[in-house]
Amino acid sequence: MIRLPSYAKVNLGLEVLGVREDGYHELRTLFQTISLHDDVSLTLRRAPGVTVACAHPAVPNDASNLAAKAALVLARHAGRRDGVAITIEKRIPVAGGLGGGSSNAATVLLGLDRLWKLKLGIDGLHPLARQIGADVPFFLYGGTALGLARGDEIYPLRRQVRGTVVVVDPRRPVSTAAVFRRIDARLTPRENSNTIFRFVSRDLEADAGFPALTNDLESAALEEAPELRDAVVKIRGILVREGAKLAVLSGSGSTYFGLFDDPRRARTAGAALRVAGFTAHHCRALSHDQYRKALRIRPGLQRG
Ligand code: C5P
Repeated sequence: MIRLPSYAKVNLGLEVLGVREDGYHELRTLFQTISLHDDVSLTLRRAPGVTVACAHPAVPNDASNLAAKAALVLARHAGRRDGVAITIEKRIPVAGGLGGGSSNAATVLLGLDRLWKLKLGIDGLHPLARQIGADVPFFLYGGTALGLARGDEIYPLRRQVRGTVVVVDPRRPVSTAAVFRRIDARLTPRENSNTIFRFVSRDLEADAGFPALTNDLESAALEEAPELRDAVVKIRGILVREGAKLAVLSGSGSTYFGLFDDPRRARTAGAALRVAGFTAHHCRALSHDQYRKALRIRPGLQRG
């Protein structure tokens, strides 16, 4: 048996560049893992089959769960006939743009690679992760990373972003596919603003790139969930007033977050948000090294 943390991500920036031939969207995004996490336990069973148990009512307990899919894909790849029981303790908001399901799937791949002594490592698991979902490969790396193509081509950055993150959950699940459909309905090819590439190339210039970062999905997500417009204005107002150097929607939403240098100001922001009636989680950005240690990923097995 193995028990591993399964961390959430936020997108520090997200640019939609166009529609691909496979129907997905060409993205340029900056991923960041945060300390908010689920716990995933894996128990090997002699009898074949994969089971998933999760007490959260919105998390499926069948093969449509990405964690189950990950175990099935890896078992088939490795020719394993024994079974796995997966238990998920859910803390990451579901359908909130924090990648919870994708993170659970990647954690299962990493955990089973160990338990089954497959030694596939990140390089070996990457093609399998990609089959499960576009956000899954990032969770093999964690930390601060550039995501290209469908968001599944991952380049860890040398400069890992640090700071305290306040995550606000408006408790309104939003479907990622529905948000992308809204983008399609009005897509004019993006003027190539390159804000993310500028951020990456300013790797050594501390915070110079942050003010330019935006999320191209934000307005489509608010079309999908118009009742959130007022809430988002309030949330953003509080985060910015309290000194967030970045305050944007994560992924396709509806989770909003603020990134702070000063943990005390982050606490003040969290308290103000709670007074205003919101659910706010206080956490920190997790670097690539911290992520690797927490998930016990061996450094020798990853792409450099
Ligand atoms: O890959 P995953 O199933 O997690 O993606 C969820 C949905 O988000 C896809 O069905 C697709 O509609 C949309 N998506 C997209 N382009 C991406 C990533 C996701 O259109 N690069």
